[in-house]
Amino acid sequence: MNMISLGIESTAHSFGIGIMDDRGKCYANLTEMYKAPKGWGIHPMEAAKHHEKVYKLLVENAFRKSNLSWNDIDIISFSQGPGLPPCLHIGLRVAKKYAKEHEKPLVPVNHCIAHIEIGRQCTQSKDPVVLYVSGANTQVLSFVEGRYRCFGETQDIGIGNAFDKFGRGIGMAFPAGPKIEQEAQGGKWVDLPYSVKGMDLSFSGIVSEAIRRHEKGIPDRDLCFSIQETCFSMLTEVTERALAHTNKGEVLLTGGVAANRRLQEMLEIMAKERGARYWVVPREFSGDNGAMISWNGIIMHNTGKYKLEKDPDIKPRQRTDEVEVLWL
Ligand code: ATP
Ligand code: FE2
Repeated sequence: MNMISLGIESTAHSFGIGIMDDRGKCYANLTEMYKAPKGWGIHPMEAAKHHEKVYKLLVENAFRKSNLSWNDIDIISFSQGPGLPPCLHIGLRVAKKYAKEHEKPLVPVNHCIAHIEIGRQCTQSKDPVVLYVSGANTQVLSFVEGRYRCFGETQDIGIGNAFDKFGRGIGMAFPAGPKIEQEAQGGKWVDLPYSVKGMDLSFSGIVSEAIRRHEKGIPDRDLCFSIQETCFSMLTEVTERALAHTNKGEVLLTGGVAANRRLQEMLEIMAKERGARYWVVPREFSGDNGAMISWNGIIMHNTGKYKLEKDPDIKPRQRTDEVEVLWL
């Protein structure tokens, strides 16, 4: 019998339950997203209340969908951080409750690394330069000497949050990313600030300027097109430089914003021009999900090298490059 992990994701707006085995088979991957009222960002306490309400049903549904029961589960993996503390707390409480009730070991997982590892698992990517783009995070990473090292990152907000903030400013509901992508079709170019500083990026000035242009009457379609073109060019530039510096031959795009077709296209062109292989995480695993946590828990556990804590806590500010990667 294969080893099976139940993964719990609860770092921000989404609560997810995923079940995977050590061969990479995904039995269930269910997510419920907290949606803030129109015009509002997510309120951490409200998101946490949402997670508290939905977790039981999600676990039941995951078992129903997979035809499995607690007897089949070997480990429980959960998102330890980074994330919003009230949301992380719910995930931890749920994980501990089930671990106690069913006597299963608990494996704490770094959410950002889980986004990378599910990307590697679902593609043939081995040793990529990773562009990890999501709501709160924007990082260019690669594995060097035992860790995923960060080569460049946002100095203010993540690209997803930048899109959501711009969307909110022009009256779009959360999450605005997919709506901006749609609206950008057929848009025309408007000059916006381009903000790459060495290997780092910043987005909030671009968002403020785009909202100002909206208030002056520039059509949303043109602004959506231009904010995408500008921000994605910045991301492609930094990823390309990381590829050149590290001499690696692969690019992997992962995280919630990896669902964007235009970003996929720009990175693919860059990778091709450099003779690098290019991979993108499948759509079902790009946004926050329990399967990626479940999978990362398995590969950590199977090294046999991690000392499992009896009473783990959340790590709301844990950085990607703090985590010792012992499975590579
Ligand atoms: P993290 O904790 O990893 O920073 P997160 O909790 O914000 O991530 P994800 O599900 O990884 O969650 O990413 C969600 C973000 O992805 C949202 O900001 C959303 O607007 C953005 N997004 C989703 N689809 C698209 C798209 N097609 N184009 C652009 N942005 C998108
Ligand atoms: Fe995420």
